[in-house]
Amino acid sequence: MSAQAYHLAGEFYELVARRQAASSGPPLQAALAGTDPAAGPVLEIGAGTGAVTEVIARTLPDTGIVATEPAHTMRAVLTARVAADERLRERVLVTDEDAAALTVRLETAPPGAGFCAAVLFGVVGHLDRPDRIRLWRALQRVLPVGAPVAVELMGVARPRHIPPVRLLREQIGDQVYEWWSAGEPAGPAAMRFDTTWRVLAGTRVVREVAESYLWHTLSVSDLVAETGWSGEPRSGPDGTEIAVLHPVPSS
Ligand SMILES: C[S@@+](CC[C@H](N)C(=O)[O-])C[C@H]1O[C@@H](n2cnc3c(N)ncnc32)[C@H](O)[C@@H]1O
Repeated sequence: MSAQAYHLAGEFYELVARRQAASSGPPLQAALAGTDPAAGPVLEIGAGTGAVTEVIARTLPDTGIVATEPAHTMRAVLTARVAADERLRERVLVTDEDAAALTVRLETAPPGAGFCAAVLFGVVGHLDRPDRIRLWRALQRVLPVGAPVAVELMGVARPRHIPPVRLLREQIGDQVYEWWSAGEPAGPAAMRFDTTWRVLAGTRVVREVAESYLWHTLSVSDLVAETGWSGEPRSGPDGTEIAVLHPVPSS
Protein backbone atom coordinates (compact mmCIF):
# COMPACT_ATOMS: atom_id res chain seq x y z
CA MET A 1 0.00 0.00 0.00
CA SER A 2 1.30 3.43 -0.88
CA ALA A 3 0.93 4.84 2.62
CA GLN A 4 3.82 2.49 3.47
CA ALA A 5 6.02 4.94 1.61
CA TYR A 6 5.44 7.50 4.32
CA HIS A 7 6.06 5.40 7.44
CA LEU A 8 9.77 6.25 7.47
CA ALA A 9 9.47 9.70 5.92
CA GLY A 10 7.01 10.68 8.64
CA GLU A 11 9.98 11.42 10.87
CA PHE A 12 11.05 14.23 8.54
CA TYR A 13 7.92 15.15 6.59
CA GLU A 14 6.99 18.17 8.66
CA LEU A 15 10.01 20.01 7.23
CA VAL A 16 8.54 19.86 3.73
CA ALA A 17 4.87 19.98 4.75
CA ARG A 18 5.17 23.47 6.23
CA ARG A 19 6.70 24.77 3.02
CA GLN A 20 4.15 23.03 0.79
CA ALA A 21 1.25 24.32 2.88
CA ALA A 22 2.61 27.85 2.46
CA SER A 23 2.43 27.40 -1.35
CA SER A 24 -0.78 25.43 -1.72
CA GLY A 25 -2.55 27.08 1.23
CA PRO A 26 -3.68 30.26 -0.60
CA PRO A 27 -5.47 28.47 -3.48
CA LEU A 28 -7.00 26.08 -0.94
CA GLN A 29 -8.28 28.98 1.15
CA ALA A 30 -9.82 30.51 -1.98
CA ALA A 31 -11.42 27.16 -2.89
CA LEU A 32 -12.96 26.74 0.56
CA ALA A 33 -14.20 30.34 0.92
CA GLY A 34 -17.97 30.38 1.07
CA THR A 35 -18.29 26.71 2.04
CA ASP A 36 -21.54 26.10 3.93
CA PRO A 37 -20.62 24.42 7.24
CA ALA A 38 -24.23 23.30 7.72
CA ALA A 39 -23.54 20.22 5.59
CA GLY A 40 -21.04 18.82 8.12
CA PRO A 41 -17.28 18.81 8.73
CA VAL A 42 -14.54 19.04 6.10
CA LEU A 43 -13.15 15.65 5.10
CA GLU A 44 -9.37 15.66 4.63
CA ILE A 45 -7.98 12.47 3.12
CA GLY A 46 -4.28 11.64 3.68
CA ALA A 47 -3.80 14.57 6.04
CA GLY A 48 -0.13 13.76 6.64
CA THR A 49 1.35 15.74 9.52
CA GLY A 50 -1.56 18.22 9.56
CA ALA A 51 0.02 21.29 7.96
CA VAL A 52 -2.93 21.55 5.54
CA THR A 53 -5.36 20.68 8.34
CA GLU A 54 -4.26 23.91 9.99
CA VAL A 55 -4.95 25.87 6.79
CA ILE A 56 -8.46 24.37 6.62
CA ALA A 57 -9.08 25.19 10.28
CA ARG A 58 -7.97 28.80 9.80
CA THR A 59 -10.11 29.20 6.67
CA LEU A 60 -13.29 27.73 8.15
CA PRO A 61 -13.09 28.57 11.87
CA ASP A 62 -16.57 27.23 12.70
CA THR A 63 -16.28 23.89 10.92
CA GLY A 64 -15.18 20.50 12.20
CA ILE A 65 -12.55 18.51 10.29
CA VAL A 66 -12.24 14.75 9.88
CA ALA A 67 -8.56 14.13 9.09
CA THR A 68 -7.70 10.62 7.89
CA GLU A 69 -4.09 9.41 7.74
CA PRO A 70 -2.98 5.77 7.38
CA ALA A 71 0.80 6.12 7.91
CA HIS A 72 1.44 5.89 11.64
CA THR A 73 4.46 8.21 11.82
CA MET A 74 2.64 10.90 9.84
CA ARG A 75 -0.44 10.38 12.03
CA ALA A 76 1.67 10.69 15.19
CA VAL A 77 2.75 14.19 14.15
CA LEU A 78 -0.83 15.02 13.09
CA THR A 79 -2.23 13.89 16.43
CA ALA A 80 0.46 15.77 18.37
CA ARG A 81 -0.28 18.93 16.37
CA VAL A 82 -4.02 18.66 17.02
CA ALA A 83 -3.57 17.80 20.69
CA ALA A 84 -1.26 20.77 21.27
CA ASP A 85 -3.70 23.37 19.97
CA GLU A 86 -6.97 23.86 21.86
CA ARG A 87 -8.71 25.27 18.76
CA LEU A 88 -7.78 22.19 16.72
CA ARG A 89 -8.35 19.75 19.57
CA GLU A 90 -12.03 20.60 19.84
CA ARG A 91 -12.67 20.45 16.09
CA VAL A 92 -10.41 17.86 14.45
CA LEU A 93 -11.17 14.14 14.50
CA VAL A 94 -8.21 11.98 13.42
CA THR A 95 -8.70 8.50 11.91
CA ASP A 96 -6.23 5.89 10.63
CA GLU A 97 -8.26 5.07 7.50
CA ASP A 98 -6.65 4.76 4.11
CA ALA A 99 -8.73 5.78 1.09
CA ALA A 100 -10.05 2.25 0.57
CA ALA A 101 -11.33 1.90 4.13
CA LEU A 102 -12.76 5.40 4.03
CA THR A 103 -14.53 4.65 0.74
CA VAL A 104 -16.28 1.65 2.33
CA ARG A 105 -17.34 3.81 5.28
CA LEU A 106 -18.73 6.54 3.01
CA GLU A 107 -20.56 4.00 0.85
CA THR A 108 -22.51 2.88 3.89
CA ALA A 109 -22.80 6.22 5.71
CA PRO A 110 -26.30 6.91 7.02
CA PRO A 111 -28.23 9.84 5.52
CA GLY A 112 -27.18 13.10 7.16
CA ALA A 113 -23.64 11.93 7.93
CA GLY A 114 -22.30 14.28 5.29
CA PHE A 115 -19.41 16.67 4.78
CA CYS A 116 -19.27 20.25 3.51
CA ALA A 117 -16.03 19.87 1.50
CA ALA A 118 -13.22 17.42 0.81
CA VAL A 119 -9.47 18.04 0.62
CA LEU A 120 -7.02 15.57 -0.97
CA PHE A 121 -3.53 17.06 -1.11
CA GLY A 122 -0.75 14.89 -2.52
CA VAL A 123 -2.93 11.78 -2.26
CA VAL A 124 -5.02 10.89 -5.34
CA GLY A 125 -1.99 9.82 -7.39
CA HIS A 126 -1.41 7.09 -4.82
CA LEU A 127 -4.72 5.52 -5.88
CA ASP A 128 -5.24 3.63 -9.12
CA ARG A 129 -8.11 4.57 -11.40
CA PRO A 130 -10.67 1.96 -10.17
CA ASP A 131 -10.03 2.98 -6.54
CA ARG A 132 -10.29 6.66 -7.42
CA ILE A 133 -13.56 6.19 -9.27
CA ARG A 134 -15.03 4.30 -6.34
CA LEU A 135 -13.87 7.08 -4.01
CA TRP A 136 -15.43 9.81 -6.20
CA ARG A 137 -18.76 7.92 -6.20
CA ALA A 138 -18.62 7.55 -2.43
CA LEU A 139 -17.80 11.25 -2.00
CA GLN A 140 -20.72 12.15 -4.22
CA ARG A 141 -23.02 10.43 -1.68
CA VAL A 142 -21.81 12.52 1.24
CA LEU A 143 -21.15 15.95 -0.29
CA PRO A 144 -23.71 18.57 -1.35
CA VAL A 145 -23.93 19.34 -5.06
CA GLY A 146 -21.37 22.05 -5.84
CA ALA A 147 -19.31 21.53 -2.66
CA PRO A 148 -15.57 22.08 -3.16
CA VAL A 149 -13.34 19.04 -3.56
CA ALA A 150 -9.80 20.46 -3.50
CA VAL A 151 -7.13 18.21 -5.01
CA GLU A 152 -3.38 18.81 -5.11
CA LEU A 153 -1.69 16.83 -7.90
CA MET A 154 2.04 17.19 -7.10
CA GLY A 155 2.67 19.07 -10.35
CA VAL A 156 3.02 15.98 -12.55
CA ALA A 157 0.23 15.83 -15.10
CA ARG A 158 2.18 13.45 -17.37
CA PRO A 159 5.05 10.99 -16.78
CA ARG A 160 8.51 12.48 -17.30
CA HIS A 161 12.10 11.90 -16.32
CA ILE A 162 13.06 13.94 -13.24
CA PRO A 163 16.77 13.65 -12.40
CA PRO A 164 17.74 13.50 -8.71
CA VAL A 165 17.21 16.94 -7.26
CA ARG A 166 17.62 18.32 -3.76
CA LEU A 167 14.26 19.80 -2.80
CA LEU A 168 15.09 20.88 0.72
CA ARG A 169 18.07 21.64 2.94
CA GLU A 170 17.45 22.77 6.53
CA GLN A 171 19.60 22.97 9.62
CA ILE A 172 18.36 21.63 12.95
CA GLY A 173 20.89 21.88 15.75
CA ASP A 174 24.29 21.02 14.34
CA GLN A 175 22.81 18.74 11.67
CA VAL A 176 21.61 19.45 8.15
CA TYR A 177 18.53 17.69 6.75
CA GLU A 178 18.28 17.19 3.00
CA TRP A 179 15.39 15.84 0.96
CA TRP A 180 16.20 14.40 -2.47
CA SER A 181 13.72 13.18 -5.07
CA ALA A 182 13.94 11.57 -8.52
CA GLY A 183 11.20 10.32 -10.83
CA GLU A 184 10.93 8.00 -13.83
CA PRO A 185 7.97 7.13 -16.07
CA ALA A 186 6.39 3.86 -14.97
CA GLY A 187 3.82 3.41 -17.73
CA PRO A 188 1.65 5.72 -19.82
CA ALA A 189 0.10 7.46 -16.80
CA ALA A 190 2.32 6.70 -13.83
CA MET A 191 5.68 7.58 -12.33
CA ARG A 192 7.95 5.92 -9.82
CA PHE A 193 9.40 8.39 -7.34
CA ASP A 194 12.47 7.62 -5.26
CA THR A 195 12.94 9.93 -2.31
CA THR A 196 15.80 10.08 0.16
CA TRP A 197 16.14 11.95 3.43
CA ARG A 198 19.74 12.51 4.43
CA VAL A 199 20.96 13.81 7.78
CA LEU A 200 24.45 15.28 7.72
CA ALA A 201 26.85 16.33 10.45
CA GLY A 202 29.25 18.47 8.49
CA THR A 203 30.06 16.40 5.40
CA ARG A 204 29.38 13.08 7.16
CA VAL A 205 26.06 11.35 6.39
CA VAL A 206 24.69 10.35 9.79
CA ARG A 207 21.47 8.77 8.54
CA GLU A 208 19.85 8.03 5.22
CA VAL A 209 16.21 7.00 4.75
CA ALA A 210 15.02 6.04 1.26
CA GLU A 211 11.48 5.25 0.11
CA SER A 212 9.81 4.73 -3.27
CA TYR A 213 6.25 5.02 -4.42
CA LEU A 214 4.14 4.86 -7.56
CA TRP A 215 2.27 8.04 -8.50
CA HIS A 216 -0.56 7.98 -11.06
CA THR A 217 -0.17 11.19 -13.06
CA LEU A 218 -3.29 13.31 -13.49
CA SER A 219 -4.15 16.75 -14.85
CA VAL A 220 -7.09 18.89 -13.78
CA SER A 221 -8.92 17.99 -16.99
CA ASP A 222 -8.22 14.28 -16.41
CA LEU A 223 -9.93 14.65 -13.04
CA VAL A 224 -12.92 16.48 -14.50
CA ALA A 225 -13.33 13.72 -17.10
CA GLU A 226 -12.85 10.94 -14.53
CA THR A 227 -15.28 12.34 -11.96
CA GLY A 228 -17.89 13.69 -14.39
CA TRP A 229 -17.99 16.76 -12.11
CA SER A 230 -17.32 20.36 -12.94
CA GLY A 231 -13.91 21.69 -11.99
CA GLU A 232 -11.23 24.22 -12.62
CA PRO A 233 -7.60 24.88 -11.75
CA ARG A 234 -6.88 27.48 -9.09
CA SER A 235 -3.46 29.05 -8.63
CA GLY A 236 -1.85 30.78 -5.67
CA PRO A 237 0.35 33.89 -5.85
CA ASP A 238 3.49 31.78 -6.40
CA GLY A 239 1.87 29.82 -9.26
CA THR A 240 1.11 26.67 -7.25
CA GLU A 241 -1.92 25.08 -8.87
CA ILE A 242 -4.61 22.89 -7.36
CA ALA A 243 -7.76 21.39 -8.87
CA VAL A 244 -11.12 22.39 -7.44
CA LEU A 245 -13.91 20.00 -8.38
CA HIS A 246 -17.63 20.32 -7.67
CA PRO A 247 -19.96 17.30 -7.59
CA VAL A 248 -22.90 17.62 -9.94
CA PRO A 249 -26.38 16.13 -9.32
CA SER A 250 -26.44 12.32 -9.69
CA SER A 251 -27.99 11.24 -12.96
C1 LIG B 1 2.49 13.83 -0.08
S1 LIG B 1 1.83 13.38 1.47
C2 LIG B 1 0.70 14.73 1.72
C3 LIG B 1 0.29 14.94 3.16
C4 LIG B 1 -0.68 16.11 3.39
N1 LIG B 1 -1.90 15.94 2.63
C5 LIG B 1 -0.02 17.41 3.03
O1 LIG B 1 -0.35 17.96 1.96
O2 LIG B 1 0.82 17.87 3.81
C6 LIG B 1 0.76 12.05 1.03
C7 LIG B 1 -0.06 11.49 2.17
O3 LIG B 1 -1.01 10.56 1.62
C8 LIG B 1 -1.07 9.45 2.48
N2 LIG B 1 -1.51 8.28 1.69
C9 LIG B 1 -0.77 7.49 0.87
N3 LIG B 1 -1.53 6.52 0.36
C10 LIG B 1 -2.78 6.71 0.84
C11 LIG B 1 -4.01 6.01 0.69
N4 LIG B 1 -4.10 4.92 -0.08
N5 LIG B 1 -5.09 6.49 1.36
C12 LIG B 1 -5.00 7.60 2.13
N6 LIG B 1 -3.86 8.29 2.32
C13 LIG B 1 -2.76 7.84 1.69
C14 LIG B 1 0.34 9.28 3.00
O4 LIG B 1 0.39 8.50 4.18
C15 LIG B 1 0.76 10.72 3.19
O5 LIG B 1 0.48 11.20 4.46
